[in-house]
Amino acid sequence: MATIKRVGILTAGGDSPGLNAAIRGFGKAATGHYGWELIGFRDGVTGLIENRFMELTPSALSGILTVGGTILGTSRDKVHKFVVDGETRDMVPTIVQNYEEDGLDALVMLGGGGTAKNAKRLLDAGLNVISLPKTIDNDIACTDTSFGFATACEIATDAIDRLHSTAHSHHRIIIVELMGHRAGWLTLAAGLAGGADIILIPEIPYSVANIAATIKARTARGSTFSVVAVAEGARDQADTADYEAARLLVDRADSAEAKRAAKNHLAHVVDSQREHTFRLARELEAATGLESRVTILGYVQRGGTPCSADRLLATRLGVAAADMLDQGASGVLVAACGDDTCPVPLADVAGRVKLVPTDHKWVEAARRVGTGLGE
Ligand code: F6P
Repeated sequence: MATIKRVGILTAGGDSPGLNAAIRGFGKAATGHYGWELIGFRDGVTGLIENRFMELTPSALSGILTVGGTILGTSRDKVHKFVVDGETRDMVPTIVQNYEEDGLDALVMLGGGGTAKNAKRLLDAGLNVISLPKTIDNDIACTDTSFGFATACEIATDAIDRLHSTAHSHHRIIIVELMGHRAGWLTLAAGLAGGADIILIPEIPYSVANIAATIKARTARGSTFSVVAVAEGARDQADTADYEAARLLVDRADSAEAKRAAKNHLAHVVDSQREHTFRLARELEAATGLESRVTILGYVQRGGTPCSADRLLATRLGVAAADMLDQGASGVLVAACGDDTCPVPLADVAGRVKLVPTDHKWVEAARRVGTGLGE
């Protein structure tokens, strides 16, 4: 058994439903079952660097299960690149000093892929760190899923249901853009659940001509509308080629200067493709003769109370994190593994993104029910 007495916890990266449920799950197990002290750092890595925290007493943990967002606040700051007075600094030594001054025996970081990289850096600096998988994108490697995904899927599915009303009433192509960053999990799941006629994900670069052909075939069969669910990271085949080439330049950069130039080029490519969903709408309207309208669902997908599945997942991951710490675990992601959890080394998670395999069962299911994938 480890000698844990005092633990710090923080939430980092994009907010997500279930964060407070996870704080509660870990916190009640830590303070109630194990009798540890618990402090919550404010605003993610920023609060860790500035040593801003609150005592997470049982009363502070009460009534937060159903609350959206994070009671601690969050940020997307990096531990090794933090701007102070206009200068970018490595703040890992400052964090180590704060960790020691606060008398911490462990640090729990709730976040996504970026947080796993931050956690790995702090682990390498000698801190006892564990991480929990949080993101609506479901793109964290080595875990079945992440809390936030199920709620975002509920929200996006409800939106697709509702968008069918205007589609069939006006005989339109309704395009709804969903979040997911570089992965298509959320769009694929909500598209299937919402019965979208076409689902476009980053992992399957699309052809506008093929999408138009699918819509025309639907029209020929008497359907007067089409609902298209498009992931924010989905691109047509030409844009995908440009994007992948730009990313490759970043990955292959062999000097700091080359990497800076490659990242600037990638940012320019991404920026030039930012309106891809509106361009798709115009192209489909021209190709099919049907009116097209776009809805960008955006941050609605991250809002409000977590669904029951996320509350259950966040609670059981939070409790498992306390148990793992008590058993001496360190440097791991508390991964969802079926009905259980398993500790995965942060080295296996940091820097990796879980994308949708093009032969995934959900992709095959879409094909079997006749959903167009733009391919
Ligand atoms: O990672 C969650 C997410 O909502 C992504 O789906 C989206 O691309 C990104 O965050 C938006 O980032 P921000 O909240 O910084 O605008």
